[in-house]
Amino acid sequence: MSKLLIHGGHKLFGEINIPAAKNSYLPILAACVLCEEEIVLHNYPDYTDTQSMCGILSSIGANITNNGGDLLIDASSLFSWGVESELACQVRSSIFMLGALLGRFRKARVAYPGGCEIGARPIDIHLSGFRKLGVKVEERHGYIYCDASKMHASTVLLEFPSVGATESLMMASVLLPGETRLLNAAKEPEIEDLQNFLVAMGADVCGAGSGEIVIKGVKKLHGCSYTPINDRIIAGTYMIATAMCGGEVLLKGVKAEHLRALIDKLDKTACVIEAKNDTIKVISDGKPIALGKVETSVYPGLPTDLQAQILALSSISKGSSMIVENVFESRFKHVPELVKMGADVHVKDRVAFVRGVERLYGASVSGMELRGTASLVLAGLVAEGYTTVSNIRHVDRGYKNIENDLASLGADIKRIDD
Ligand code: EPZ
Repeated sequence: MSKLLIHGGHKLFGEINIPAAKNSYLPILAACVLCEEEIVLHNYPDYTDTQSMCGILSSIGANITNNGGDLLIDASSLFSWGVESELACQVRSSIFMLGALLGRFRKARVAYPGGCEIGARPIDIHLSGFRKLGVKVEERHGYIYCDASKMHASTVLLEFPSVGATESLMMASVLLPGETRLLNAAKEPEIEDLQNFLVAMGADVCGAGSGEIVIKGVKKLHGCSYTPINDRIIAGTYMIATAMCGGEVLLKGVKAEHLRALIDKLDKTACVIEAKNDTIKVISDGKPIALGKVETSVYPGLPTDLQAQILALSSISKGSSMIVENVFESRFKHVPELVKMGADVHVKDRVAFVRGVERLYGASVSGMELRGTASLVLAGLVAEGYTTVSNIRHVDRGYKNIENDLASLGADIKRIDD
């Protein structure tokens, strides 16, 4: 099992080209099931989660080839509408296959999804949405069985603006005769990206980003080539790393509007931020001021996927911070590991109270889930001495060789085998 070995205390200088967004690529890969012609997806980001999703598509008969970073997907001859447990349990995004398979075959049998241990992660909003569309849904022995022979257009009010449920219902409806409306839909940029991809295949979808999405069913989709947006969470992670370490880093290929909440929080407290076109420059003296009260929320609020990284920043900021995790009920697993490094953090329910300390100390820490493990890496970058981060398979789910990016900016970090 690999670990990351980090020697803290180095400022970061340089530039990084931000790769494609994991949370865009995953639903878009599922949506390829809806089309019987070849699709080309550019800038394929080879994270382990996207690899798992490609494995799921191949398991039902899709032909996928990686042509120098362009993914060619041919889903013309699928032979199954089922996703087995050993594949589905690897990623949360396997749940997207339900909507896509219902859209294509009007039936599906998908095992319960996996994903990061950040809460119960129920799928009730997905399933109640399908039922509203007339789908017969049964759950038994760890599988979800859907019969959509009587599926019909309808208006679905989501009880919570769930990202995944919004995406599942968009995919289930694009080939459904009539007009389907999704109310209280998620507004994340990845939802808009999925809409743009579906439209590129000839679907009639509009309203993504507004909270109300309208899908007018079409008979068939056609092949296309598409470039998903880049990963705002990776960009945010490196912005926070620079605020912590000090230095000057230019992030290229990221839209400031997709990170407005983070920029507003960090600018002039933890660092100076200059956003221009599709670049964000971060300048920092490495002496961040505490952010005070920070609350995660759905887009356009502060992303829950940056909460752990902000908590690492707060642990070395001057002053105290209160971090409220409003989206997932159990997303502070990184705290005990940060405390091992000298952080002063107390968690009560969904609130972490952080008192900034002069310095963190290198330690052996263990990752538990994707963004929490990234926060431990960030803490190691500023800790005195050496830090080893184990279970880095978690961070590989959503960052491609995080150590290469950080080392290219001057960090002393490398991957070692146990
Ligand atoms: C997506 O997860 C992302 N994953 C997550 O990113 C991200 O944290 C999350 O959206 C919120 O932005 C992918 O896109 C693959 P939700 P998802 O449905 O769709 C509850 C990362 O680090 N809920 O918006 O699972 C749920 O328990 C990952 O890249 C229900 O109760 O998120 C949570 O409390 C982590 N019932 C809240 O809603 C449901 O049916 C938000 O979940 C669905 C969700």
